[in-house]
Order: sequence, then structure tokens, then C-alpha cells
Amino acid sequence: MKKYTLLLVVVLFAEIVKGQQTQLMLKTMENIVVETKDLSLVLTVEENKDVNMVYLGKKLQDPNEYRQLNGQYKQGHDYTNMYQSAYTASGTRNLLEPAISVEHADGNQALDLKFVGQELKTIDNNRKELIIKLKDELYPFHVELHYLSNFQENVIEQWAVIKHNEKKNVKLIKYASANINLKGEDYYLRSYHGDWIAEMQREDEKLTHGIKTLDSKLGTRTNLFRSSYFALGLNNRITENQGTVLLGGLEWSGNFRVDFEKDPQDNLRIMAGVNNYASHYSLAAGTAFVTPKFSFTVSTNGLGEGSRNLHDWARKQRLIDGYGERYTLLNNWESTYFNFDEQKISHLLDNTKKLGVDLFLLDDGWFGNKYPRNADTSALGDWEENKSKLPNGLLSIVKEANKKDVKFGIWVEPEMVSPKSELYEKKPQWVVKQPKRDEYYFRNQLVLDLSNPEVQDFVFNILDNLFQKNPGLAYIKWDCNAVIYNAYSYFQKDQNNFYVDYTKGLYRVLDRFREKYPTVPMMLCSGGGGRIDYGSLQYFTEYWPSDNTDPFDRIFMQYENSLFFPSIASVNHVTTFGKQDLKFKIDVAMMGKMGFDLNLEELSADELSFAQQAVKTYDQYKHIIWHGDLFRLADPRKDNHASLAYVSKDKSQALMLNYLVQYSQVSSTSAPIQWLGLDPNKKYKIQEINLHGTNSWIPSELILSGDFLMKVGLNPILNNNRKSVILALKAIN
Ligand code: GLA
Repeated sequence: MKKYTLLLVVVLFAEIVKGQQTQLMLKTMENIVVETKDLSLVLTVEENKDVNMVYLGKKLQDPNEYRQLNGQYKQGHDYTNMYQSAYTASGTRNLLEPAISVEHADGNQALDLKFVGQELKTIDNNRKELIIKLKDELYPFHVELHYLSNFQENVIEQWAVIKHNEKKNVKLIKYASANINLKGEDYYLRSYHGDWIAEMQREDEKLTHGIKTLDSKLGTRTNLFRSSYFALGLNNRITENQGTVLLGGLEWSGNFRVDFEKDPQDNLRIMAGVNNYASHYSLAAGTAFVTPKFSFTVSTNGLGEGSRNLHDWARKQRLIDGYGERYTLLNNWESTYFNFDEQKISHLLDNTKKLGVDLFLLDDGWFGNKYPRNADTSALGDWEENKSKLPNGLLSIVKEANKKDVKFGIWVEPEMVSPKSELYEKKPQWVVKQPKRDEYYFRNQLVLDLSNPEVQDFVFNILDNLFQKNPGLAYIKWDCNAVIYNAYSYFQKDQNNFYVDYTKGLYRVLDRFREKYPTVPMMLCSGGGGRIDYGSLQYFTEYWPSDNTDPFDRIFMQYENSLFFPSIASVNHVTTFGKQDLKFKIDVAMMGKMGFDLNLEELSADELSFAQQAVKTYDQYKHIIWHGDLFRLADPRKDNHASLAYVSKDKSQALMLNYLVQYSQVSSTSAPIQWLGLDPNKKYKIQEINLHGTNSWIPSELILSGDFLMKVGLNPILNNNRKSVILALKAIN
């Protein structure tokens, strides 16, 4: 017995020495650097053709010095020489969480990806795409790693393309978009959980060794409980204007999974991609599987700079018409719910004009005849006008709107079906449900199987018909209220492909829609903010953050969304929710694209004239909010107030939005709030706007330099009598 133990120790020791020798012997053959204005991401090709990711951070002046990187870390033994793999494959010597895991056609589960080449494409004068080509040594199995750099915005988009030529289908067991390695000691994660009417609840934590996962398995409405967007502080707690922080998320509206693994050497590995839950994807030979993109930025000056990077990138590269115009609107959801008819709509069109906004948005309830949509229990799928509510059809309303010089938009929820609908009766096989089990509903409805091309055609035609039959239709609100229960597709041969193909099917429909209607403004809604990611936002002009329109709660949600998404995309409605006065509600809606969802008849004459004036004021300043730079000056979770500044790109105009979030007789802003982003050499005339019947406490002729405002600051004088204060700055030199 003793003899064997000794032998084992000797063998183990020999193995360790061998391992160490291998580690020492490996030489980096080549550095490949992905660069933006301020950042670099460095990959190395090792002597054994492994590709590692060894650096992500501030760009070095001399690219030759990236070779010295590894020598600076003495972090102990890496048994495998692959802790830093740029795309960790499993089944050979890997000991950590893989980025990719497969079952080959012959059932073998080992994959070892080696460098076979690289390509650099120039997309335009701001963007380059690096492609690293990898191949397994034994199997005809290929992976391409794509790194698309947005130079000015410091944003990197990363994804993988997986292909094979094996004899039968290969099972993709895990297939991340990105495998990012960060060297450091401490990592601080800011992530977001939530629920209906409680979206984007922030949570901060220090990551410990092991794996922390952010994921969703809901199929649709996947952000109901969790966003895939996060911020990660490297070696420092996350702050607004200091320290290194990575901000990013997955461009995917289906199930996602982001693993953060603090490895035995204290490094952090982030594997972000489609959730492989119930989705061991069956991939046919010769077909490319393109993962969604994981897009991120790294700022070395805190969150604020990271957000501005993402905002600029999103307005340029993702949102439809990101630097364009948006419609202000009146919506009827909270004022009528399902209870309306032609007469009421006609009146609402008048009110739209009276209020001075651009568009009237007709919400849920306009369709279904055999089963009229008078509640949320029926008619999804039956997209014809309800004859008793709209006897003359939508066209007569669109025409009337145009006559009244108001634009007209409409709500649809095209991915869904009510069990009480003609569609369900006619096409039960289009519905996602288990064949032999009880149905289970989310908001009394089920999801259509968008992995089926016939269903994709049906959904596209719902939209297309609306536009064909109603020329002049100007706006769509696309909703998606249900999650997927009882996941089963009558169309799929392999159920493992369903979740992924659903989301790809959704994007196929949206691609087709955008090919035909490239600029129609469209709001992304998912029972509130259940689907906010850049995978979906590339088809939309704006998103609905939450069905919770209480302005107090909205301050927090809108603030957190602003970390990742530009304000031009945030749809903020003034409603009857919340006990605050109209001024406070309007001021909070100014943090994005303003709209109203209330009955004008319920406003006093004074309130109505204030609202009308506020719309005009908003029109005057909205471009600073939509197209300018955002500086978050005070965090409502830390201070007794939130304060945000928008500065026009040329720094000639700015807005400061301030909200008190702790109400007591004595709470106030006792000190000045320091500005950011102004021109120190300019003098700014400061004026309080959106005053409702009171005089401003800010002197009317106040002129201060950018230098003063940034070094000393400005006190908006928030207090119990002034719970929200909006200040406009205009440069006078
Ligand atoms: C969802 C949306 C709401 C509204 C209703 C209509 O809840 O988030 O804004 O459109 O559906 O049923």
C-alpha cells in the first residue's frame, strides 16, 4: 500500500514538473491587438497555436510593450496553460468554465481549438473587424472569433461563428459569444434584477472565487427578472467618474447566460452568450452558427464615460435613426384601457392636438370580432378591427388624424395568441405548448412558434397589412407580454433548437420589416421593460422602460437604464400614477422622450395650460437630451436627490435635471452640485424652466462660467417646496 502511495506521489510530482516545463517552454509567437481610441484588447498566439486573451485596458503607447505583459504577473501555476484562452474549449485539458463545449458527430466531446489564421477587415474609417480563425486538430470543426472595434466610441463588439464539416450534426452544448479575461485582484459587479413594474433594480457585490451567473430562461420577455447588462469595476468599487469599469451586455432577446468566474489565479473570466439551458443546439454540416454579439466598453474614468461611449455607439450603430427626431405623443392606455370607440378616439385626437404633442397612440383593445378584445383574456392573433368599436376601420381614424394634423400610431402584440381566438382554433400547431400537458398561461396568453417560417410570415404580414391598408400610419408599439411556459415546438425536429430559433425567427421578421419600412418609428415594449437589449433595439427607435409610471420609481429606473441606453430611446410618459404634482411628473418625463397617458379632462385649466407650455418648452430643449452628452451628477441611491446634466456636443447649451428623492420638511440640497462636461472658458446664462406658477429661486440674471460650474458647482435649491428643478444653460460667449 505504502509503495503505491509513494509511486503516486512520484508520478504526480513528475506531472507537475512536466506541466511547469510546458508552461515555461511556451513562447508567445505573435501579439494581435484590437485597438480603439483609448483601449486595447490584446490576443496572443502561443507556440502551440493556442490563442489567449492577455490584456484589456488603456492603450499602450508602444505596441511592442504588450510582449512584456505576461512577465508582470506572478500568479502561481496554471496547470493547463489555458486559463487565459480567448475561447475556452472543453473536453481536453481545460479545468475551468468553458466558452464552447460540443458533442461531435461520433459522440466524442473533446475540442481543442488552434490558431489557423487571421483577417482584418476595414468596415469604414471608424470600424475594423478582426477575425481569428481556429480549428480543432482532429475534427473538421471551425470557430471564428470576431472583434469589431468602434474606434471613436471605444466599443468592442464580439461574437463567434461556429461551423463544421463532420459526417452528421454536431451538438453545440455551450457556445458563448465572448470569453473575456481580466487580470486583477478584486472585481465589483453591478447587475440588475427585477419584475413587472419593478425593472432595473440595482445590486452591487464583490465577486468571490467561483462562478456568478446572470441568466434568463424565460424564452421571451427575458429581462423580466434580470437584465444581461452589467457594469464591472476592476480593482475598484464602481464610481461615476473614477476607476476602471467595463459596461456591456448581450445583444440577444432570448435566453442569455453571463458567467463571471474568478479563477484560481484571481483573474476574472467573463463568458457571455446564449443560455445553453435546454438548448444543446443541433448544427448541420456546412451551416454557420453565428452567436449574438456581446458589446462592451471599458472606461478608465468611471461609469459616466462608459455610458457616453455606449450612448454614442448606440445612436450611431444600433438604434433606428439614433441621431434623428422622435414623436412626442398622447397614449390612451391608462385613460381608457380596453374601453373606447370611434367617438372617444376622435376626442383623443383633438386632445393630442390641444396638448401640442405630435402623435396619438392607440393602445390595446382595437381588434378581435368573434372574440372581441375587451379584456386581456381574448383575441390576440385576430388582428382585424373590432367592428363595434371601430365600425369604419382604422383607415377612417388615420385619415381623421391626418386631417387634424396629428400623427397616428398603433399597438400590436404580434408574437402572441389568446387561447380564446380564431387563430388558436385554426392553427393550434403554431402555438408553443406541450402536446399532452395542461396549458399554463402568462397574462392569459400563449406564445406563437416563431421558429416556424410560416409563423414568421404570419407575423410579418400583421405589420405589413396594417401599413398596406392604412397609408399614413406613422408609429408602432410592439409589445410582448408572455414568457414561454411548456416550451415545445411542433415545427422543430430537435427541441434543443427551439429557444435559439425562436429569437432568430423574431429577428428575421424584424429584418424583413425594416427592409420594407426602414424608418417608421417603433416602440419596443414587453409588458414594460422586459426586452431591453441591443439585439432588439437595432430594430426600434425607442423602448418602454416599465408599466410603472410613478415618477418617483421612474427616476431610479430611468437612471439605471441610462448607464447603458441613450435617453433618446427612453419613453417616459406622464400619467395619473403617483401622488406627485404635474410639474414633478413632467420633469421626470424629461429624462428621455416625453409622452402623456392621461385624460386631459381630468386636469384643471391651470394644469392643462402648464402641460401645453411644458410641451413647447420640451420641444425647445429636447435635442440636448436626445443628441447631447449625459453626465450623471448625483446618484439617487446615494444622495437625497438625483441630478443629471445633458450637454450639447458643442457645449453651447445644457440642461440640468434635479429631483429630490427623500421627502421631509428639512431635506434639501445643502451644497452645490458640481457640473461636468462644460467648456471652462464659456460663460453660461442660467435659467430655471418648467416653472409652474411660482417664481424661480434661482436669480433671473445668473451668469456663471463653465470653470465655476465645474469647480464649485451650482445648487438647484431642491427642497420640500421645490421637489424637481430643471435648469437650462446657454453659452453667451
Ligand atoms: C403591456 C404594456 C402596456 C400596455 C398593455 C396593453 O402591459 O406594457 O403599456 O400596452 O400591455 O395590454
